[in-house]
Amino acid sequence: MKEPQYRGVNELRRMFLEFFESKGHLAMKSFSLVPHNDNSLLLINSGMAPLKPYFTGQEIPPRKRVTTCQKCIRTGDIENIGKTARHGTFFEMLGNWSLGDYFKQKSISMSFEFLTNYLQIPAERLAVTVFEGDELVPPDVEAEVIWKNIGLTSDQIYRYGREDNWWGPAGQTGPCGPDTEIFYDMGKSKCGPKCGPSCHCGKYVEIWNNVFMQYNKEADGTFTELKQKNVDTGMGLERVLTILNGKNNVYD
Ligand code: ALA
Repeated sequence: MKEPQYRGVNELRRMFLEFFESKGHLAMKSFSLVPHNDNSLLLINSGMAPLKPYFTGQEIPPRKRVTTCQKCIRTGDIENIGKTARHGTFFEMLGNWSLGDYFKQKSISMSFEFLTNYLQIPAERLAVTVFEGDELVPPDVEAEVIWKNIGLTSDQIYRYGREDNWWGPAGQTGPCGPDTEIFYDMGKSKCGPKCGPSCHCGKYVEIWNNVFMQYNKEADGTFTELKQKNVDTGMGLERVLTILNGKNNVYD
């Protein structure tokens, strides 16, 4: 990256929404932090949470491509606040969704285009993780091949298991799938050459998650392919601003 140039929240929010509007997405306003008709959450914790009726088919989305900047409170992260450089009580999640429209290739290539062309983040500062597979679901080879074709080198791509590279539904039934997470390498490591994106030392900061909802978890614990495949992404507004402004924590 060249000299960090100051960017504020309003500018990055606008850039993101305009970028995805230019790719055919409908920009919607942030939903309330208090969930509507959803007893499973106390507070909205991600961009996808208010969009759940579209994923389950309960409601018809206004368009198959949607983008938002959603106000979030992730109660599960509260114990980390004040201990890490990247967790806050309140944050905003930028996201783009495909509701039965594009899938892995387009999703990954748009994320890469936004980060490297629009925000001018050098590709060599990125690291990504993909799902390595287990006894229930095969590895996400497709995502790995897409990243390689885009130009990331093998040492920028890490394979992890269900703990790191899988999204929803914990213990329950419903749509879920592998994800690919994008990290920014802050450069310094306290823990030597074994350090990777799953390490919490602060060298790698997760900035964007692309979830590929391609399975349904059945009551017997097996996974079947969904007919309508969806993409759910989430980028941390404050984390990306931290990087763009050459800072090392979200509070600055
Ligand atoms: N729903 C995904 C997340 O919050 C994108 O990480």
